[in-house]
Amino acid sequence: MMSEDFSAGCGEGFVNPEQRSELSVREQMAQTYAQLVAQRGAYWWYAVREFVLERMRLHQGGKLYDAGCGVGLYTLAIAERFAAVEIFAVDFSPASLQQLRQQLDGSSVGTRVQLFCADITHFLPPAPVRWVLCTEVLQHLPTLQLRRQALERFYQALHPGGELWLLVARHRRWHRRRGIPKEIDERPHGGYFRMRFLPRELLQELRRAGFRRIRLYGAPVPPVRLGRRLPASLWRCALWLERLPVSAYLGEVLIAQAHKPC
Ligand SMILES: C[S@@+](CC[C@H](N)C(=O)[O-])C[C@H]1O[C@@H](n2cnc3c(N)ncnc32)[C@H](O)[C@@H]1O
Repeated sequence: MMSEDFSAGCGEGFVNPEQRSELSVREQMAQTYAQLVAQRGAYWWYAVREFVLERMRLHQGGKLYDAGCGVGLYTLAIAERFAAVEIFAVDFSPASLQQLRQQLDGSSVGTRVQLFCADITHFLPPAPVRWVLCTEVLQHLPTLQLRRQALERFYQALHPGGELWLLVARHRRWHRRRGIPKEIDERPHGGYFRMRFLPRELLQELRRAGFRRIRLYGAPVPPVRLGRRLPASLWRCALWLERLPVSAYLGEVLIAQAHKPC
């Protein structure tokens, strides 16, 4: 683990061997990551990130661990909007953290964000946190054991009563119909692993890690090629839909809110 020092190769020493290939991809894509995901369109970001930030009730203040923060698309939004939140932002990609560091250096919120270069399957923040936020990361952990290890770590990181907010890709019926596999492993070709979750398997793994009072939401976002054409103004409908229990069965993104018992 390393805080605030992203000198060359800081990830190599402790990244789990199953994700070495992903680490090099993340290093290469760090500079373009924000542009790449901006292609999802404004509607996607409102329907997903705004929904999560609204439901987390971050104005209450406290410590937050952003697990697999990447270049900080959530970290920055939270730090800028919620002055009472202190953030531990963690990623195993030094280049991604460097991007985030540069943005923080140019802003007034930098002092409330601590960056760590570490593997989320091992990392524990320096103090217990009120929230763990993990967006689009669990789906890249290539074995069940690593996914379980990460969830167990998240559980340990929280103080009693704390909340995990998890965002993953959802496996849908149309994926099955079109023969799109639940798991795609591009590591043998220099890429990375990615998978989609079923609501029931996510529930099962969260319960196994000790979480209770679990609620699943779904963001009604269509595949990116369609979603980027939707007007951002539709996001208000999306936020309304997402609050309904049925939303867990809508859209491409599955969001879980899970509590560590008091
Ligand atoms: C798809 S990006 C998501 C980034 C960010 N959470 C977001 O939503 O914009 C996945 C990120 O997880 C990081 N990551 C994947 N596995 C990790 C691990 N085991 N430990 C730390 N970071 C990891 C990658 O480096 C990458 O930055």
